Amino acid sequence: MTHLAATEIPRAFLWKGDHLALLDQTRLPTEQHWLMLRNLEEVAEAIKMLRVRGAPAIGVAGAYGAVLAIRNAWKDQSAEASDWLNGFLEITEALRQTRPTAVNLFHCMDRMDRVARVFVEDARGTESGMKRFDPAAAAERLESEAVAIHREDEELCSRMGSHGAELIPDGARILTHCNTGAVATGGLGTALGAIYTAHLSGKKIQVYADETRPLLQGGRITAWELFEAGIPVKLITDSMAASVMADGKVDLIMVGADRIAANGDTANKIGTLGLGVLAKHFGIPMYVVAPTTTLDPALASGQEIVIEERKADEVRQFQGQYSAPPEVDVFNPAFDVTPGEFISGIVTELGVHRPPYDFRTLMAGKG
Ligand code: MRU
Repeated sequence: MTHLAATEIPRAFLWKGDHLALLDQTRLPTEQHWLMLRNLEEVAEAIKMLRVRGAPAIGVAGAYGAVLAIRNAWKDQSAEASDWLNGFLEITEALRQTRPTAVNLFHCMDRMDRVARVFVEDARGTESGMKRFDPAAAAERLESEAVAIHREDEELCSRMGSHGAELIPDGARILTHCNTGAVATGGLGTALGAIYTAHLSGKKIQVYADETRPLLQGGRITAWELFEAGIPVKLITDSMAASVMADGKVDLIMVGADRIAANGDTANKIGTLGLGVLAKHFGIPMYVVAPTTTLDPALASGQEIVIEERKADEVRQFQGQYSAPPEVDVFNPAFDVTPGEFISGIVTELGVHRPPYDFRTLMAGKG
């Protein structure tokens, strides 16, 4: 199997040790503008404003943000271990508050918290001996954890890509929604990673990319990624999806996820539920591609998933201009939940899972 060289795919961010270089996705595709983020406020703002977006990518960016923040907080200072730990827990809590739906961010913050706690416990164990708590060493340990999270996400993308590509027949016409590509993750992408992988294995594929109102991740980012990779893509507005399917132009639907409950109910970009209903109506298979870090087996069903509501102007405006009365009331949920029973298969790095889904048992077995 051919793999895209790391240099050929766009990147959401690059870790530079003392800052996070981040591609501002709000300016794609017309500008590839890189931001140099150096503190908690800048990273939190970038996540809230969708300068970095996509469930896995915000988890990785959050982990790097936590490293920058703890370094800034304890620059050239010695610290009481408990004060340092409390400060770190406040940082990760602030990052958790940026966006509520994608669970990857929460998993990453929990993982960073665990590492911080273990570091402090180890230091306590030796304090009566020679070693004192060293904030610089603690930050270094957290940095290596953030880098590990990033590398692991890259690896998960490769494995999901291979499993997902097997579901794509040669000649397939695939409909996708939002952006699930390289800039939405630390690697090749989720659903788009499978599409890249199928393309690289020599399959002739055609992608229909939903524009994805209100913020146009499909038009601005997916169409750009696929076009740059030389993968045939037709951009459609969201309201065209039903008629494209009715015309028999879609063989399968492949999307990503922001949080998947134990029963397979899947929160993803607003509009995904409509595709699930259409898939069922037209008998078209719908696949979700997401790493196990997007699973939330603690939730029995999608009813428990918190759906982010965003600012009214995202809907009242189109590219900075009012396209509706400036004072009109708006409902702007960023995600919806597709019932697991509408989903033909959920692809993780472990393989293809089929309904009825039971991710609680799967993840308990994984330890
Ligand atoms: O609001 P966004 O752009 O962060 O939403 C992203 C999505 O809904 C993606 O489909 C999801 O995160 C999977 S991306 C690998």
